[in-house]
Amino acid sequence: MADVALLEVRGLEKSFGGVAAIADLSFAVTEGQIYAVIGPNGAGKTTLFNMLSGVYVPTDGAIEFDDGSLVGLAPHQIATRGISRTFQNLQVFFNMTVLENVMVGCHLRSSIGLYRAALRLPGVVHEERQVRDWALEALAFCGLGHLADRSADALPYGELKRVEIARALAAKPRLLLMDEPAAGLNDTETVELRELIRRIGESGITVLLVEHNMGLVMEISDTVLVLDYGSRLAEGTATEIQNDPKVIAAYLGGEVQYAVQ
Ligand SMILES: Nc1ncnc2c1ncn2[C@@H]1O[C@H](COP(=O)(O)OP(=O)(O)OP(=O)(O)O)[C@@H](O)[C@H]1O
Ligand SMILES: [Mg+2]
Repeated sequence: MADVALLEVRGLEKSFGGVAAIADLSFAVTEGQIYAVIGPNGAGKTTLFNMLSGVYVPTDGAIEFDDGSLVGLAPHQIATRGISRTFQNLQVFFNMTVLENVMVGCHLRSSIGLYRAALRLPGVVHEERQVRDWALEALAFCGLGHLADRSADALPYGELKRVEIARALAAKPRLLLMDEPAAGLNDTETVELRELIRRIGESGITVLLVEHNMGLVMEISDTVLVLDYGSRLAEGTATEIQNDPKVIAAYLGGEVQYAVQ
């Protein structure tokens, strides 16, 4: 298969009060890749995700997804184009069940408007059923099918992080943005997460992964982009990045020695 860029970022910039959080950043993600973005705290990783998902409008530059520009689109429009994300800080509704939390993800790209939903037209009932089916499918994929009817507040943190992944998958994305999915997980949960990300990749979804756990990043990523002060410090395979003197000096140090079991 020819390498087709599903996502292409060119000359991207985001400034806050004149300070650039992302500066002249360009990279491309090939369809089917697990592509990691790493870098020190404050390097601009979440800011990048916020631009890709429509939370922030770039100060400058282009974002092309599947040959269309994403710049200026609202988050729900970007979700409809096929991009879903998980968040660095848990975004779970504790007063809802696990299934309801995941159904929120499908509604993002469902065509039910509030008005149509209130009238309960036949198409709406059909669509609600589909949303439920997609949510149950995503929960099963994430190994949470048996917890669908549990209240979210009864679940431990590690499972809630997985609920968030299920929610993002329920929207049936082509590109999944994951912002520090291993943060706060224990070793066993991190291994389970690694396998889940692998299966997501194998299912044909392209993954953009921001993560500080270098063992995880180096084991599963096809390509690693290193950000420093909002700009590209290096890009390459895990092996190239681990052996790049610039990257070792600026960020990795001894961290890459710690592999996930
Ligand atoms: N809404 C905002 N207003 C002002 N400054 C911001 C805003 N969002 C991010 N920044 C700044 O942009 C820079 C990059 O922040 P960002 O959260 O993207 O870093 P990060 O790489 O995700 O860091 P971490 O690894 O700690 O999550 C930081 O200096 C941050 O203070
Ligand atoms: Mg961040």
